[in-house]
Amino acid sequence: MDMGNIAVTETLKRETSANIIQSHGLSSFCDYLKANKCKNIIVMTGAGISTSAGIPDFRTKGTGLYDNLQKYNLPYPEAIFDIQYFKRKPEPFYTLAKELYPGSFEPTPSHRFIKLLEDKQLLLRNYTQNIDMLERLAGISDDLLVEAHGTFHTAKCVGPKSDEDEDVDIPILGCGKTFEDKDIKQKILDGQVPECPDCKGLVKPDIVFFGEQLPERFHSMIHKDFKQCDALIVIGTSLSVAPFSGLIHLVKDNVPRLLINREVCGTQDFMGRGFDFECEERIRDALFLGTCDEGVLQFQEEMGWQDDDLSQLLQKTKIS
Ligand code: OAD
Ligand code: ZN
Repeated sequence: MDMGNIAVTETLKRETSANIIQSHGLSSFCDYLKANKCKNIIVMTGAGISTSAGIPDFRTKGTGLYDNLQKYNLPYPEAIFDIQYFKRKPEPFYTLAKELYPGSFEPTPSHRFIKLLEDKQLLLRNYTQNIDMLERLAGISDDLLVEAHGTFHTAKCVGPKSDEDEDVDIPILGCGKTFEDKDIKQKILDGQVPECPDCKGLVKPDIVFFGEQLPERFHSMIHKDFKQCDALIVIGTSLSVAPFSGLIHLVKDNVPRLLINREVCGTQDFMGRGFDFECEERIRDALFLGTCDEGVLQFQEEMGWQDDDLSQLLQKTKIS
């Protein structure tokens, strides 16, 4: 027996085993899922999974929503989702809400992919920043969904409109009356500002504006979920809005992460826990650079899943 060779082999083994996945590619991530029989996958999503349905994202230059709000004369683009601005001038938000109101768009192959993970009992949770409700329409169960930036599904009274010239922070509390989507939908579609019948306050859909807390469900779910997560998939987000962007740091150190997106993001060093798609030692993060729909299709092929629905949907959907 050659002890020298054994020592070399042992060193090699140690070096190889430091890698969590074998390369930074999607196929290595899928190999890991198969080898480790992962069943607690968390999927984090953003506006990029809905662009092929015809809904613009926020920050893509030229087509993103924030580059196309000139007609609203906003002081800065994000003001359209700023609670303080809304209390003074709610009209721009409602005009946009009318254009984007859920109901006129169909789920994309990426939504269908998340539903497929659920059907295969591999989905621990889908944390979405989207407010288009396409996850619900794709059939993803309520209990597997965390709508981190809220939803159009419900709404509440946030009190009366304030004086436009008021320059102190305005209290947001309304009379507390809550509404369902069906109570205000028609008003919004008719181009009106929905009003609380009890106090005449503004009725605002429960989507999270800048300056508002994320839903209680987000905070109560993340700690248990991310501890339990055995693989993380991030699709179609620029990861530029906290606290959502910080979720990728919450999974355990040895849990592999996959980003499917048109651009690289999330790499900023947060105590060394941002994505790293370049390191040669201890490879953990995988990247698919391309459209979300192409990424999920390749994922499905790598896993050997036959899902005619997904392929058909992909053919029907214009890849953006
Ligand atoms: P962004 O517009 O910031 O990012 C969308 C990401 O998806 C970008 O990196 C795009 O390059 C990518 N993308 C777009 N279409 C794609 C496609 N078909 N295939 C692959 N990648 C694609 O949107 P979010 O990250 O979702 O908050 O934005 C986060 C939050 O910022 C939103 O929830 C919203 C906004 O302010 C609120 O409304 C409260
Ligand atoms: Zn009220």
